[in-house]
Amino acid sequence: MAPGGFFGTAAVAVVLSLAVHVAFHCPIQPLPSPPSPARLPPNNLLQGLEKLGEGRLSGPEDVYIDAAAGGTLYTATRDGWLQRMQPNGSWEQWRFVGGTDLLGIAPSADGSMLVCDAHKGLLKAEEGRVTILASTVEGSTIRFADAVIEASDGAVYFSDGSARFGFGEWFLDYLEARPTGRLLKYDPGTGKASVALDNLAFANGVALSRDEAFLVVCEAGSDAPSCG
Ligand SMILES: *[C@@H]1O[C@H](CO)[C@@H](O)[C@H](O)[C@H]1NC(C)=O
Repeated sequence: MAPGGFFGTAAVAVVLSLAVHVAFHCPIQPLPSPPSPARLPPNNLLQGLEKLGEGRLSGPEDVYIDAAAGGTLYTATRDGWLQRMQPNGSWEQWRFVGGTDLLGIAPSADGSMLVCDAHKGLLKAEEGRVTILASTVEGSTIRFADAVIEASDGAVYFSDGSARFGFGEWFLDYLEARPTGRLLKYDPGTGKASVALDNLAFANGVALSRDEAFLVVCEAGSDAPSCG
């Protein structure tokens, strides 16, 4: 066989085995891409921002600002700490939660801090004690606890970004574009979580309106048109 023929055959074999590998081992079952959203006019509003805790905070995802305490700011970082910034700008490591996947935080009326650990679920961080409030919901594992808010009746609403992919695989959820995210509700009376809304395209931030008449949940993923 001529050398060119050998390399040609080898190239075909490589391409074929790659195609077979992708066909059998592809981790996603993607839906067709949704149309691109309308383009917004460009602006430079973020150019003038001031970065807080730069070089000190590892991957802060969410903030809670305690207005009653003069604007003390809290955030959770990837080194497992809840950290806070005093109004005079000084930072301190406030409470240790542990883990590497801390995302959303929100204060609870009882003085504890509610924390989403993407991997473990919904946590409650008190002085010297961390409790897992919910790691499963209606029999399924919470894979991507993301953002949280507590209502005045004590119910805790939190998002679960994806029912298929965990923290290190968020990009697979985006590529797949199947809306499997959920809004979950934790009932402190029963100690159980339930699904309040499902079929969300990467459920992310949650917020309650001031009068608690409605709740806002952001979908950070792209929802394919066929999913509605
Ligand atoms: C900032 O405020 C905190 C809390 O009041 C205090 O402990 C700290 O010493 C202050 N730091 C500076 C640099 O003023």
